Amino acid sequence: MLYIIKHKKVIIIQEMNYLNFLSKLGIGGAHPGGIELTRDILTCKEINKGATILDVGCGTGQTIAYLVETYDAHVTGIDINPNMVIRARERMIRDDLDANILHGSVEALPVEDAFFDIVLAESVLAFVNQPKALTEIYRVLKPNGSLIANELTINEPLPQENEQEIQAFYGFESILLENDWLKLFKQAGFKNVNTLTIPNLFQNQSVPEFDFSLIFKPELYEMMVSYYNITMKYMNVLDYRVFAATKVI
Ligand SMILES: C[S@@+](CC[C@H](N)C(=O)[O-])C[C@H]1O[C@@H](n2cnc3c(N)ncnc32)[C@H](O)[C@@H]1O
Repeated sequence: MLYIIKHKKVIIIQEMNYLNFLSKLGIGGAHPGGIELTRDILTCKEINKGATILDVGCGTGQTIAYLVETYDAHVTGIDINPNMVIRARERMIRDDLDANILHGSVEALPVEDAFFDIVLAESVLAFVNQPKALTEIYRVLKPNGSLIANELTINEPLPQENEQEIQAFYGFESILLENDWLKLFKQAGFKNVNTLTIPNLFQNQSVPEFDFSLIFKPELYEMMVSYYNITMKYMNVLDYRVFAATKVI
């Protein structure tokens, strides 16, 4: 956060952080494997026509568009970043798709209990308070409804300074091992918790979608360089897994 004093008033300017950077660049498919992996995951899942699906941390709505077009599903997306919400809503209008895009947090979902058949979280839960978010996701799922989460993992514990550097750059709430994630899902009440084996999981090199304005501010370049540097530095450390869990009652 940057504070400046103007006309005796303190003005707070949001510093560029990773999630703002994604929203300014209008990046769609901002999760490992991108939309290609999303398609592969969903192909392994039985989705009925008209299913109710919630995409938490929906970003620019690329997955929502795919779900509506492919499954004729009733899709709701929610994101905490107003820019992302605007972009997702614009996409629905542009592509003439019917979906409900909400502004809000996965930690306090403005949605009634037991409403959704499926909740999707694509590279979102690492950024939030996981116990709060998982309790909320559990609450809004119907009995036998399922959560599918594509989330960041590390394969072994890291020295504290590396962990702090990664957390500070991305704004992660925590950096978890696969087993830590599995424990969290179980603690939230989920059953049938497992890590999915998706064909070609790690070969998937989908290119993200960009939708940036013509005014490309210098701070975006700086952030891009930092992003490249940190990605290179930790390319053998940061990993991801696709998890599935069910609300069994
Ligand atoms: C890495 S992006 C992934 C976006 C999208 N799922 C995708 O794959 O393109 C993470 C998203 O989570 C959103 N987010 C972060 N914290 C959130 C929260 N507490 N509630 C809802 N969305 C959140 C961010 O605004 C951002 O759009």
